Amino acid sequence: MVNWVELSLKKAYFFKNPYRMVRRFLEKRGDKEVYLYGETPLPLIDKILQDFSVPKNATFFDFGSGRGHIPLYLASKYKMRAYGVEEVAEFVVIANQIAVKHHLSARFFCQDYLDWKIEPNYVYLYGTCLEDDIIEKLVKTSWKKTKWITVSFPFSDYSDRFEVEKKLVGVYPWGETDIFLNRMK
Ligand SMILES: C[S@@+](CC[C@H](N)C(=O)[O-])C[C@H]1O[C@@H](n2cnc3c(N)ncnc32)[C@H](O)[C@@H]1O
Repeated sequence: MVNWVELSLKKAYFFKNPYRMVRRFLEKRGDKEVYLYGETPLPLIDKILQDFSVPKNATFFDFGSGRGHIPLYLASKYKMRAYGVEEVAEFVVIANQIAVKHHLSARFFCQDYLDWKIEPNYVYLYGTCLEDDIIEKLVKTSWKKTKWITVSFPFSDYSDRFEVEKKLVGVYPWGETDIFLNRMK
């Protein structure tokens, strides 16, 4: 990542803990499972772009973008139009401030990604503990051309409308898992 973006994130989160921020948000909402935060290492994002041949002019959405480090990285390193959709408002405010400050083509929206309406070219979905009912809602999408990058499960496990175009092995801080590039048949 260009150093000043990384530095901006480090500075913004010096006294904040993203794991605790998500836990508090989920506790306040009354969710049972509240330990859901985690971040994708940025070298893995490079590998995903390369192995899945993601074009640099694609619109790339991170559904559940957390601190926003992936869209900020894609916008700073590859000048991609990269977006984050995230329900924790403070993450969104800080990520947009960093994007604006550094003139990056990344933007962040505070909402439930299940309500997102505009068709992306690519969606990255890192939620290894996602409830089945959420995935079942996502696979009902009407977006025919969107390619979905999912971590640890393929959409074809949930719907016969989808097939796996490619897969790779991703290394996360907690271990290895398959990452799938899913497309509608
Ligand atoms: C596991 S973190 C992933 C962060 C980032 N995408 C990454 O890979 O480094 C998941 C994030 O998704 C957010 N999230 C979970 N469900 C969501 C939903 N339905 N709509 C928007 N954001 C959601 C959480 O608040 C959390 O910040």
